[in-house]
Amino acid sequence: MDQRDGFSNKFGVIAAAAGSAIGLGNIWRFPYVLGQNGGGAFLLIYLFFIVAIGVPVLLSELLIGRKAQQGVFGAFRVLAPGFKFFKIVGVMGVGAAFLILSFYAVVAGWTIEYTVLATANQLGDKSPAELATLFSDFSSSFWRPLFYMVVFMALTAAIVMGGVKNGIEKYSKILMPLLLLIIIVLCINSVTLDGAMQGLSFLFKPDFSKINSDVILEALGQAFFSLSLGMGIIATYGSYVQKKENLLQTAVSVSFADTLIAVLAGVAIFPAVFAFGIKPDAGPGLVFVTLPNIFNQMMGGYFFAVGFFILLFIAALTSSVSLLEVVVAYITEELKLKRKKATIIGAFLITVFGIFCVAYPVLFTSFEWTTSNILLPLSGILITIFVGWFLGKKQTRAELESHGSKIRMIGLLMLILKIFAPIAIALVFLNNLNLI
Ligand code: PHE
Repeated sequence: MDQRDGFSNKFGVIAAAAGSAIGLGNIWRFPYVLGQNGGGAFLLIYLFFIVAIGVPVLLSELLIGRKAQQGVFGAFRVLAPGFKFFKIVGVMGVGAAFLILSFYAVVAGWTIEYTVLATANQLGDKSPAELATLFSDFSSSFWRPLFYMVVFMALTAAIVMGGVKNGIEKYSKILMPLLLLIIIVLCINSVTLDGAMQGLSFLFKPDFSKINSDVILEALGQAFFSLSLGMGIIATYGSYVQKKENLLQTAVSVSFADTLIAVLAGVAIFPAVFAFGIKPDAGPGLVFVTLPNIFNQMMGGYFFAVGFFILLFIAALTSSVSLLEVVVAYITEELKLKRKKATIIGAFLITVFGIFCVAYPVLFTSFEWTTSNILLPLSGILITIFVGWFLGKKQTRAELESHGSKIRMIGLLMLILKIFAPIAIALVFLNNLNLI
């Protein structure tokens, strides 16, 4: 990753950024958080945040990286010498990446367990109630989840260390569309179940009485989490985008792909949730107890189950690689350690935190809540202020139009970056703290 040779084409960057964005956040976290936060009303607010804040922040990160030709730490040094303050974005990003990966690896470990169970055909003969017990017994036990978490972290570290990133990106270009295909097949099977309508209306019919400050904050946090924002990950990819590429289009494509997968995951899951009598607010186990039921009703369900969990695992891996990369980049650049050493130390410390997440669900939950709902949106405020006020319209326009054609709506974009996004995020925070 050190030589700035750039991605060979636009699809390369989109695939890499989408590889980071598309992961457990879309398929595991989105449906369960939506289920706990009122369904359709959450979806509506979520979509609003993706368009009004997610896309502009994603674009800002890409722009910062490409303009500076550096990752976040260097980028702020180059673009705002004298404003050391912005370094805090990088620091918060490293902290967030560290904490996120420590619970993310636990859930990724669950995908390995489920791949093994599916392959051994141990999901196929179970009733909905048995599948629920299976998950709760497994996830509340210690050694097996721990074992898989460690395996997952070792794989992530091996990939980051070897720098075979290009390798997995190449595969994920083929495998992610395949995941999309399986999800579409799941959607079709799910909506044809008895009682599917109830699930669809839970997902798509907003019940405005369910909206409160928690729901709004969760929707904002999920938008940041799902798009991998607020950690400088996207800025790093931005530094590899060639000047001839259209950044706005890239930002829109990545956000669209990410949102599409999340919504389709919802369409696959909620009809089945109601058809099999599962509670929509069942929490982090929702996907794991719901989907095996659909596989059990499908023709060729065995193969779909195995394929799905393998692909979900790979989606998690491409995201976790980008998370570990943030931590390793920090250790190598700021603490001047060699990449190999940095990777081992980073992965080891994260694994230790991961062990605590396995042992104490309350830590798991609080890492998850604090990172997505507080740290990431907080960085988001600073990123938008930076581009809106420090770079300003002239520089922003020059960078966005470097591919040679005019970008319309630059006025609207600046308005969002300077005023709307920072104020909206701040209001969501204050409202949630009951301060307004
Ligand atoms: N966006 C990833 C997902 O949806 C998770 C992630 C968050 C990755 C933050 C990198 C940074 O699974």
